[in-house]
Amino acid sequence: MHFTISFSVLFLAVVSLVYVQAAPTSKRAPGLITFPIRSLHGRVRGIHPQLDFQQQINRAERRLARMTGRDAPSDDHLRARLDKRMYIIGNGPSRLPVKAQTKRYNSAAKLFDSFKEKMASLTVAQKAAFKAKTKSNSTAGSNAGGVSPIDLQAAANGGLTDGNTPTASDSLALDIEGPDVGYVAQVQIGTPPKNFVILMDSGSADFWVGSENCRSEAGGGCGQHEFLGKKSSSTFVDTKAPFNVSYGTGNVAGTVIRDNVVLAGLQLTNHTFGTADTESVDFSSDSTLFDGLMGLAQSGLSEQRVPTPVESLNIANLIPQAITSYKISRLVDGKNDGEITFGGLDQTKFDSATKVTIPNVNERGFWEGDVDSFTVDGQDSGLQGRTAILDTGTTLIIAPAADAKVIHNLINGSRSDGQGGFIIPCTTNASVALTFGGRSFAIDPRDITPLPVDPADPTGDCQSGITSGNVGADTEWLVGDVFLKNAYFSTNVNENTISLAKLV
Ligand SMILES: *[C@@H]1O[C@H](CO)[C@@H](O)[C@H](O)[C@H]1NC(C)=O
Ligand SMILES: *[C@@H]1O[C@H](CO)[C@@H](O)[C@H](O)[C@H]1NC(C)=O
Ligand SMILES: *[C@@H]1O[C@H](CO)[C@@H](O)[C@H](O)[C@H]1NC(C)=O
Ligand SMILES: *[C@@H]1O[C@H](CO)[C@@H](O)[C@H](O)[C@H]1NC(C)=O
Repeated sequence: MHFTISFSVLFLAVVSLVYVQAAPTSKRAPGLITFPIRSLHGRVRGIHPQLDFQQQINRAERRLARMTGRDAPSDDHLRARLDKRMYIIGNGPSRLPVKAQTKRYNSAAKLFDSFKEKMASLTVAQKAAFKAKTKSNSTAGSNAGGVSPIDLQAAANGGLTDGNTPTASDSLALDIEGPDVGYVAQVQIGTPPKNFVILMDSGSADFWVGSENCRSEAGGGCGQHEFLGKKSSSTFVDTKAPFNVSYGTGNVAGTVIRDNVVLAGLQLTNHTFGTADTESVDFSSDSTLFDGLMGLAQSGLSEQRVPTPVESLNIANLIPQAITSYKISRLVDGKNDGEITFGGLDQTKFDSATKVTIPNVNERGFWEGDVDSFTVDGQDSGLQGRTAILDTGTTLIIAPAADAKVIHNLINGSRSDGQGGFIIPCTTNASVALTFGGRSFAIDPRDITPLPVDPADPTGDCQSGITSGNVGADTEWLVGDVFLKNAYFSTNVNENTISLAKLV
């Protein structure tokens, strides 16, 4: 994801309704000199949640098209959908020129400002009523209180919630972006080593950060980010070989370089990866919380045509196998135990009796498994012969349109939103489960309701976390963090297998 990389931070106008103490923080490692700049500039910006949601869907559609080798939906198609969703938000045609909407997130921030004003104008009584309707915390497996105020506040504040110190060796904490929008880790690069915030993506296979000469496609530099180059790193070598990667709505282009990388304390000396000289706004924006992206699918997908970092660690005998394992954490759990582990699995994070290992069925290098069945509250949907690309870089679950309909038909109170998405009650307790390797993995109902349609009514209608993408094979799902928060997930390049297990 990088869909999906879903990276933009959702934004809800509940600023004026803030009363929750468990606020996510934007704190970075102590001593990291960029912290105050980041927290003050840009990195706390938000955009309207509906717009963010549509952007996530758009990115996912492009991503799925790319993954399945199909033509990506055209800009016009995606822009039209974005525009439609803006129309819904504004109760009328968007006041922003279409071009501005797709070119700059700033435009969305403008829209948000007017939205925020609207919310701020709620009366004291309206605010009190809203507060009374909302539980102050959330309970595993129950949506009784609707969307948690912790998520609403995270959406309003943006920023990262730091993960705790890892419990396994060769591991990095995964920080949570906003209300479970994406997952990033800190990686040290160059000489002297500098910290870079990197999005960890099981759905792509290139590793890059911005170059010291980085230019945004929107004009200007690449925002409040760390950059890599000769000026800041004495070990930096530019091979000048070009690369270009397209993700979701964004793309980067640059050259293949070599420099030292430290990943969870493991030293990759003279490692080959990329620096971006050109970034689309998805990456160059100040509101993008990460400095680069690490693709951890298989190197067959690499546009740079080099081994992924985990493959390089294995080639250098620093880890026994090219295994990457993920504990994707959920903000409202308050555990902050997100973690990525290289070379093995963190046995403390899952119940080993529940572990299943299945073959990777994707020949191009994505991580894709057969799904035996889909159930809702234990009832079989009848869907068979489906596969799922498991993608930490995708926030939502994107299903073929017909399949998404089948699943939602089994969820009480659901309806189409007319845009390829679905509306479900924010208080739904429906348990949607996917079976892999004979074991059923249920999605916590809280994950199916990521976003209220009306920010002032978190117990009313919600956008469903399962949406439809019309560009995939009709049997192929793109399964992101909405699902992956509910399982321990591990990939093994040497064996070409995927493992899933129930979390402890
Ligand atoms: C919910 O919040 C109350 C206080 O606000 C706290 O005592 C309780 O432990 C919380 N419950 C959960 C499940 O976090
Ligand atoms: C990279 O590829 C994208 C999509 O094909 C294209 O729009 C963009 O211009 C390319 N960028 C560079 C610098 O080659
Ligand atoms: C880095 O790797 C390249 C390609 O393998 C090699 O040509 C070069 O000598 C290496 N540099 C150092 C400092 O080891
Ligand atoms: C969901 O479960 C909770 C707790 O069991 C219950 O109070 C609530 O009514 C249920 N919601 C729905 C829509 O069934």
